[in-house]
Amino acid sequence: MSRIATIEIDGKKYELPIIEGSENELAIDIKKLRGLTGGITTIDPGYKNTGSCESAITFLDGEKGILRYRGYSIEDLAEKANFLEVAFLLIFGELPSVDELEKFHEDIKAQAHVDEDVKKIIDGFPKAAHPMGVLSSLTSALVAFNPASVNVDSEEEMYNAIVRILGKFPVLTAWAYRKQAGFPLEYGDNSLGYVDNFLKMMFKKPAAEYESNQIVVDALNKLLILHADHEQNCSTSTVRIVGSSNAGLFVSLSAGINALWGPLHGGANQAVIEMLEAIKEDGGDTKKYMAKAKDKSDPFRLMGFGHRVYKNFDPRAKIIKVAADEVLEALGVEDPILEIAKGLEKEALEDSYFVDRKLYPNVDFYSGIIYRALGIPTEMFTPMFALGRLPGWIAQWREMRLRKEPIGRPRQVYIGETYRKFISANKR
Ligand code: ACO
Repeated sequence: MSRIATIEIDGKKYELPIIEGSENELAIDIKKLRGLTGGITTIDPGYKNTGSCESAITFLDGEKGILRYRGYSIEDLAEKANFLEVAFLLIFGELPSVDELEKFHEDIKAQAHVDEDVKKIIDGFPKAAHPMGVLSSLTSALVAFNPASVNVDSEEEMYNAIVRILGKFPVLTAWAYRKQAGFPLEYGDNSLGYVDNFLKMMFKKPAAEYESNQIVVDALNKLLILHADHEQNCSTSTVRIVGSSNAGLFVSLSAGINALWGPLHGGANQAVIEMLEAIKEDGGDTKKYMAKAKDKSDPFRLMGFGHRVYKNFDPRAKIIKVAADEVLEALGVEDPILEIAKGLEKEALEDSYFVDRKLYPNVDFYSGIIYRALGIPTEMFTPMFALGRLPGWIAQWREMRLRKEPIGRPRQVYIGETYRKFISANKR
């Protein structure tokens, strides 16, 4: 039986349908609200109570700490799948067969290069440029070299644009790092797996052989999978809303990269390590920083803590915490900031400020510690997040296009001046 919500405004009742998701989530469908009421709208800054779309890609239950891609639990995927399988699953809806995965990888490999002129653009950036800015600029610039990727309407055109960006994005990410590190901009080796090839592109030193390290490859696969999608977060909503104007895949992704950069979103992974380093330099006094985080007159927040949706625990953080211990041990790395992180977590989980506000470690709290152990420099943490989130952004963009969603254009409630007569400059 279909459910109805009734709202009453000035004594007049309006009925609105309630839609139900496959996990029994209920949402009042307000599409017809303005028409029915003669112009009344809703307001919800930060969209804390507003669904922007129906989506079949990712399910998360913030109260129970559940995260699933296309129905598969994040725990299973992080343990058993590789990143490219998960990318295929997110984008096309099903886990690939062996043949499908091989074709997908071959199609990506065929695109794993960029126009040599891209190097000239990279040369124009100062060495100190943050790699996220370089990455978003280069992703936009790719359109100039691949104009056919803009107007993609058919599934075939979408597929071509998708494998193109999945091939080129790791190159751009690695080169953003190599530029900063002063290494020559070189390619990897297409005989390697997607993640291993990326690592080679990042770390191959001139005049030295690159040696694959399975521990590093497995750890990065896991991290990328854990970051691959997270339904309608800030960057994904950005990708969908930019894409809704038919602006094209690459520029929509570029906008998503910029949204991810902020320290309240993907930039938190860099901010966490900087915070832990600062605590270490300050003598490891975690209590002092706990007090700062709770002090409302101090803008400091405990980075890597809290989440808009998870109000119990972030299942990704649980997996990453275990992985951090395993990876550091396997690589023989001892990192004093891991102990500081564990100490902070313990204190926060026993502190009523954090408990009452349901603030738990999020995906970014421990990820930076693993990235560091893998040899990835701090400024590259957020680009690594972007590399992981790429399939999710693509899947959400493709879903939006296939569902022919309308252009995103929110309403507002105007609170400025009412009509005023113009006064010429000499009379003001
Ligand atoms: N440290 C201290 N206090 C916090 C923190 C924190 N990390 N996070 C939230 N709070 C407090 C707020 O001050 C607020 O307190 P109040 O009710 O007394 O005013 C309350 O908890 C609720 O916080 P909001 O900011 O309203 O929660 P919101 O859902 O809007 O924000 C966010 C979520 C942005 C993630 C926030 O928790 C935060 O800034 N965390 C630190 C940054 C971070 O780790 N971001 C990564 C998120 S995961 C991701 O994007 C991949």
